[in-house]
Amino acid sequence: MIYKKKDLVIDGFKPELLGKKYSTPLYCYSLKNIKKNIIDLKKNFKKINPLICFAVKANSNKILLQKIGRLGLGADVVSMGELMKALKSGIRPNKIVFSGVGKASKEIIYAIEKKILLINAESKSEILEIEKIAKLKKRKVDIGIRLNPNTDAKTLSQISTGKRGNKFGVSEKNFLSLVDYVKNSKFLNLKCLSVHIGSQILDHKPYEKMLKVIDKVISKTKFNFEFIDLGGGMGIDYENNNKKLNFKKYASSIKRFLKKFNSKIIFEPGRSIIANAGYLISKVIYIKEGDKKDFIIIDAAMNDLMRPALYNAKHKIIPTKKNGKKINKIYEFVGPICESTDKFSAVKKFQKLNEKDFIVICDVGAYGMSLSSNYNLRPKPAELLIEGSKIRVIGKRQSLKDLM
Ligand code: LLP
Repeated sequence: MIYKKKDLVIDGFKPELLGKKYSTPLYCYSLKNIKKNIIDLKKNFKKINPLICFAVKANSNKILLQKIGRLGLGADVVSMGELMKALKSGIRPNKIVFSGVGKASKEIIYAIEKKILLINAESKSEILEIEKIAKLKKRKVDIGIRLNPNTDAKTLSQISTGKRGNKFGVSEKNFLSLVDYVKNSKFLNLKCLSVHIGSQILDHKPYEKMLKVIDKVISKTKFNFEFIDLGGGMGIDYENNNKKLNFKKYASSIKRFLKKFNSKIIFEPGRSIIANAGYLISKVIYIKEGDKKDFIIIDAAMNDLMRPALYNAKHKIIPTKKNGKKINKIYEFVGPICESTDKFSAVKKFQKLNEKDFIVICDVGAYGMSLSSNYNLRPKPAELLIEGSKIRVIGKRQSLKDLM
């Protein structure tokens, strides 16, 4: 994404023209960025050679999943819907892991029938349920057990998952007794220890701590885990301040860890694969002037992009055409929804905007469309993919008829 003269250009296309042609609000993805992110991840972790399972919850667009699958990634799914979509997108079952605290029986049955790589269980009750179903199906099912390593991910509390008080995983004590139970089960095959301490992690130290905990716990079990699933969570630079997880340091601590344990590493990244490949193009409907602050009312709202309302997340907003005119008051970008939290960000430095101008909200490829809703009975936006010199509609805009 660069400005050519005055126009913003994303991989050769002007978002303003896309907005005019396909209407707004409009999600637009860059395949180039997705490829770059995957290559980058693979390169940095080359010596570890992990199985990379894309966290489908970050973005479940079928065409994007197809592309990601063809680039060699598997999938991390958390529901039957995500599992079906991953399979329909051509991702092979032996590259799919199933996470989540509340897998229903029919989801477990489906996962077993489809012979996925691993069901990562999160409680004793779930393990008993998987065992019961496996017995009925006369199968030995490969499972992982998710450990809660009680590690602070130093990220937003809403997206932190690896502390004692969180609902995810089991404590060390329970982990040890569950390992003993599963080892002796006729219908379960213990293959994996899994963890996931949180999302948007920018510091490698929590990962280091997590690895130390895993090291200690595995040593106590004296069990040889074929897989260690380290989850996702790799953070990205949303605010352009060069704060981003240092892959190299994370890779070195994993390499140290692997000197002791001969396991295959699994990653479940979502955000780091797709966040910076997504743009939300939107148009200014009205400008409501105030003394100190103008409200820039755009046609995208919290139903299209929920992250700011839900986590107070910051996303860069940029104009699609530079006009060189400065403002001397605050611009607050808000949507049309009848909620005070329907706002994107307030900025001091921006160019002067006019009604009908276009803007782009950046880094929305992860947890953008996948968290969207029909709140206020607003149809969900269309999705485009820039694929080389081509534009492809990969998600149709919902119509009002769809909602009636
Ligand atoms: N694996 C598990 C078990 C997870 O729960 C998650 C995310 C991931 C992998 C992928 O994490 P990532 O690499 O994307 O950080 N809606 C929030 C993020 C919630 C993440 C939930 N779990 C947001 O918009 O920031």
